[in-house]
Amino acid sequence: MADKVILAYSGGLDTSVAIRWLEEKYNLKVITLTVDVGGVPDLDAIRQKALKVGAVKALVIDAKEAFIKSYVFPAIQADAVYEGQYPLSTALARPLIARLLVKTAKQEKAKMVAHGCTSKGNDQVRLDVGVAALAPELKVIAPAREWKMTREQTIRYAEAHNIPVPITKARPYSIDENLWGRGIECGVLEDTWNEPPEHIFLWTRPPEKTPARPAYLEIGFEKGIPVSLNGRKVAPVTLVQKVHDLAGRHGVGRIDHVENRLVGIKSREIYEAPAAVVLLKAHQALEDLVLTKEQLRFKTRVASEYADLIYNGLWFTGMRQDLAAYVESTQRYVTGTIRVKLFKGNCHVVGRKSPYSLYDYSLATYDKGDVFDHSASPGFIHIWGLPVRTQARAQPEPSERQ
Ligand code: ARG
Repeated sequence: MADKVILAYSGGLDTSVAIRWLEEKYNLKVITLTVDVGGVPDLDAIRQKALKVGAVKALVIDAKEAFIKSYVFPAIQADAVYEGQYPLSTALARPLIARLLVKTAKQEKAKMVAHGCTSKGNDQVRLDVGVAALAPELKVIAPAREWKMTREQTIRYAEAHNIPVPITKARPYSIDENLWGRGIECGVLEDTWNEPPEHIFLWTRPPEKTPARPAYLEIGFEKGIPVSLNGRKVAPVTLVQKVHDLAGRHGVGRIDHVENRLVGIKSREIYEAPAAVVLLKAHQALEDLVLTKEQLRFKTRVASEYADLIYNGLWFTGMRQDLAAYVESTQRYVTGTIRVKLFKGNCHVVGRKSPYSLYDYSLATYDKGDVFDHSASPGFIHIWGLPVRTQARAQPEPSERQ
């Protein structure tokens, strides 16, 4: 009897071709697994397509809530943004997909899992390493990495096997999307001098077409997690979707990033991540209010380590658990409300408040009510400058030497 393989299935060209290829090349029974992390247009059509192309079973899992609660929210708490620009939308979904592949393989008693990633990208690393961490006994097959077909050949293979080909020559983009963002690459974007054509954007309006008046939004956080909008509690997935809709309408969330992939290639990716841009910005603004200077500085370093780790496919590691524990600890007073103004592609933080704010009006004010001890400053500066004066006497700056 043929062995079973669980194939992570998006419904796109490569994974559809992979169904037939796994049957032909390895004589496997293919069970497809489509993980809904948002942005999947028609799940039923995807299921039908898998069965039509030759899968013996086509499974769909709604993982939207798990994605937001267990991957996106921890990333917000961590302020995890890769290279200061990419909110890690694709990267955060991969460990969840790996986990569900493993779970399904156990349920279906399959010894193999498969995915449609190519040999040049980050996702192969994330899925291979993720599966290896959770179930090292499972074999991972990556057809698109093995078959060595060019785009043209893949299309011909599809046509020869009656597999519908969705992409056209006019729009040859590679797109990945979920609730946290949409990444678009290939085609004209591969020339870094080309401005992204307007037709690639689906979630954000160009500034010329956004409303003439700004929108204001109040985002409430509890321990670093967004929990309310304009004073009303909103469930995690809905909250992200609502911020997404409003921010996208105001053109917020376009990112044009020449990023450094793990395999050493620089690639140009365009992102649309309206909810991510707004929520990350609001979260950081709240941290500015409630964390000390030292906590903020150290956390910035942790954020960049954490983002690299997520990008590089190391979610299921002790290192991530340790960073997550630190981040969790920093969030105990990150409770409060941030008001943002969305206008013509920009998101500005215009108001912040928290019961745990470290901002002290009576210390900050230049008006009456000032309680700062002005007489203490000269003494403080005298001691602060002591090592500077000592060094300047013993080791004068070259330009000052007579
Ligand atoms: N470059 C990003 C990453 O590695 C996003 C990839 C999105 N995929 C795509 N086909 N555009 O996480």
